[in-house]
Amino acid sequence: MTIPVRMIQMADPSLNNGEIHAIRDVLNSGILAQGPVVAEFEEQFATLIGVKHAIAVNSGTAALHTALLAAGVSEGDEVITTPFSFIATANAIVYCGAKPVFADIDKSTFNIDPSLIRDKITPKTRAVLVVHLYGQPCDMVEITKICSENDLVLIEDACQAHRAEYQGRRVGSFGLGCFSFYPTKNMTTGEGGIITTSDAKVAEKARSMRSHGQSERYLHESLGYNYRMTDITAAIGICQLKKIYEATQRRIANAMFLTKAIQQIEGLVPPAIAPERTHVFHQYTIRITDDFELSRDALKDKLLQKGIITGIYYPLPIYQQPLYQKRGYNDHLPVSEKAVREVLSLPVHPRVSELDLEFIVQGLRDV
Ligand SMILES: Cc1ncc(COP(=O)(O)O)c(C=O)c1O
Repeated sequence: MTIPVRMIQMADPSLNNGEIHAIRDVLNSGILAQGPVVAEFEEQFATLIGVKHAIAVNSGTAALHTALLAAGVSEGDEVITTPFSFIATANAIVYCGAKPVFADIDKSTFNIDPSLIRDKITPKTRAVLVVHLYGQPCDMVEITKICSENDLVLIEDACQAHRAEYQGRRVGSFGLGCFSFYPTKNMTTGEGGIITTSDAKVAEKARSMRSHGQSERYLHESLGYNYRMTDITAAIGICQLKKIYEATQRRIANAMFLTKAIQQIEGLVPPAIAPERTHVFHQYTIRITDDFELSRDALKDKLLQKGIITGIYYPLPIYQQPLYQKRGYNDHLPVSEKAVREVLSLPVHPRVSELDLEFIVQGLRDV
């Protein structure tokens, strides 16, 4: 296969002189590990989400693990979650000695189906961990109701959903929010993550867990970790926060452009936006149905030949991953199993130009 000279990538983080100068200032300050710049980033991120506290850590995975620990999830507990996510969502539950219990997803939003959560509740259930997949908020009215009626902690994996809103309220403010700043995400710090909450006690516990369970210098109350973010990383985060509004608007505009064209191509289903949501399009994910000329994988190959890189998020439900099969999972959740066969994500990031969008649409029409 000949690879075209020009390739449209799935992600292309915006990094420029702002980030370079901010990193240089931190290096000149001599404070490299967690210091005042992390504190500043936490304050600004808490404001963005509309919560009182934000606790920065060194990855989205660390954010999930720390949030679960801060919520009191421990050995023997069950946590209800989605199988249609990146594996970190479920692994963080396993790190706590708890068991992920999978509930199937809604076929149009790809998010956990709230009507299936209640059936999964047992006396061991301690929390519900939802994922705002691709940047679209879950049904938070229904989910917060289920959690409060059953005395369950709500944790939001918002790793793909910076600035996403449900009924005008930012995700990450309904329960304990967890965000990732990996380079493909809507904003980046290289590697990084953050937990958001308005509960002062939970925030204090999370701060302690990210730093070896320390309550004061060299006094360790519980088994914690070194999940701290560095000031170098936080300096990048502060620069990225200045761009997140515009970057989000570009993603949404790009998505609208694609949807207008794709809804006219038989066999392709553009992403559905459920009512009262602001979808921030971390991924623009379409379904390739049986009515389309080609299989999903054949379409992926054809687009690659034209210079359009696409992604499959995710090729397996988590319970079918070898790790989970070895742990005895034998779930069969039909909506997730259909989604893994049909989904294809197209480039939608802010640096995809109008010319690129036209090229993508033309590429889809051609095949
Ligand atoms: C839904 C979801 N959860 C968790 C993570 C883990 O974040 P990180 O890669 O920063 O550890 C990611 C990112 O890849 C993600 O997309």
